[in-house]
Amino acid sequence: MLYSGASGRVMNMENERQSGSGAGLQFRVLKEDYFNIIYMGLTFPSLRPILKNPPAHECLALAAAWDNVPVGLAITRITSDDSAELLSIFIDPKSRGRGIGSALISENERILLGAGVRKIEVNISGGHRNFEMLKNFVSGRGFGDMKSSMVMGKFQRDRIHEMKWVDRYTLPPGFEATAWAGQSEAERDQIIAESTPQGQEPVGSAAAWPYSEPELHEPLTSLLLRKEGKIMGWIVCHRIQPELIRYTHLYVKEEFQQFGLLIPLFAQALQLHRESGPERGIFAIRQTNDGFMNFFRKRLAPHLTSFSESLVFTKQLSEKE
Ligand SMILES: CC(C)(COP(=O)(O)OP(=O)(O)OC[C@H]1O[C@@H](n2cnc3c(N)ncnc32)[C@H](O)[C@@H]1OP(=O)(O)O)[C@@H](O)C(=O)NCCC(=O)NCCS
Repeated sequence: MLYSGASGRVMNMENERQSGSGAGLQFRVLKEDYFNIIYMGLTFPSLRPILKNPPAHECLALAAAWDNVPVGLAITRITSDDSAELLSIFIDPKSRGRGIGSALISENERILLGAGVRKIEVNISGGHRNFEMLKNFVSGRGFGDMKSSMVMGKFQRDRIHEMKWVDRYTLPPGFEATAWAGQSEAERDQIIAESTPQGQEPVGSAAAWPYSEPELHEPLTSLLLRKEGKIMGWIVCHRIQPELIRYTHLYVKEEFQQFGLLIPLFAQALQLHRESGPERGIFAIRQTNDGFMNFFRKRLAPHLTSFSESLVFTKQLSEKE
């Protein structure tokens, strides 16, 4: 069901509905329409293409209008037959506190339930300026089972030398880190296949696509992890400002995760950054590995100028709601 395109379940559902929660409030499932641009200010720039063109992947963009004036937008991606991820929810600041956010989320869930979705997740970025507001909002709307999903932190290059572990952790014999740029066509195909089973660029915050933002790709600290020549993982970075590298993707094949390869790989990239990188670094690394998260909290957080974690909340949907 995943990535079934614009003709998928959600897109075929009803288009427009008056809300029961107040006169003047209407909901509309957005389909390809030039006038969707009026809703673009109600989501992140990275999600706006979903509104412009029919989504390549299965997404639900649900708009709320008050007397035909756009007031809110929720964007959800269906991730499997019965699961979805709420990528963005936003109510125009002038219309907040009137129950529109709650009504929009209920309507979104009603449509998703009709499309067979039984579990919905929302990932709230620790660096988001409305972190507390969103956390309180989703907690009050039945989302729970909170888990840490991503670590984010900023550091100065001249403080890398304080991180003693950067020189202490080395790759085990047989493993080596080589330049990302040195990959062959066949290796690129392997990397794509491992990044997503469909071999397509995923949409939204769950994206772990190592070829994203090619114009910002940072060769200095982007590395491939190899064992006897074969690729076992990678670290991919982006130069998001002239003096700032973002460590975006850090991945090691699941069967090798217990060998503690993630930390030495990251350490190797930091050594290169320390030698000839720009003044600052930021990492925003998605991980589900508890050991890795604990390491970051203990060994990295004390040397950073800021540190935060993203949280995933889950809600089980049922017909009764
Ligand atoms: C969070 C948000 C969706 C809530 O929408 P809303 O229409 O104001 O919500 P409601 O009127 O239905 O209120 C729902 C709850 O949120 C609370 N709330 C509303 N505004 C709030 C605020 N500024 N701070 C804290 N809580 C707030 C309400 O008190 C209510 O609490 P309850 O759970 O005790 O009932 C809205 O404030 C918003 O869009 N915030 C910005 C979100 C954002 O940055 N999204 C980025 C993704 S693009």
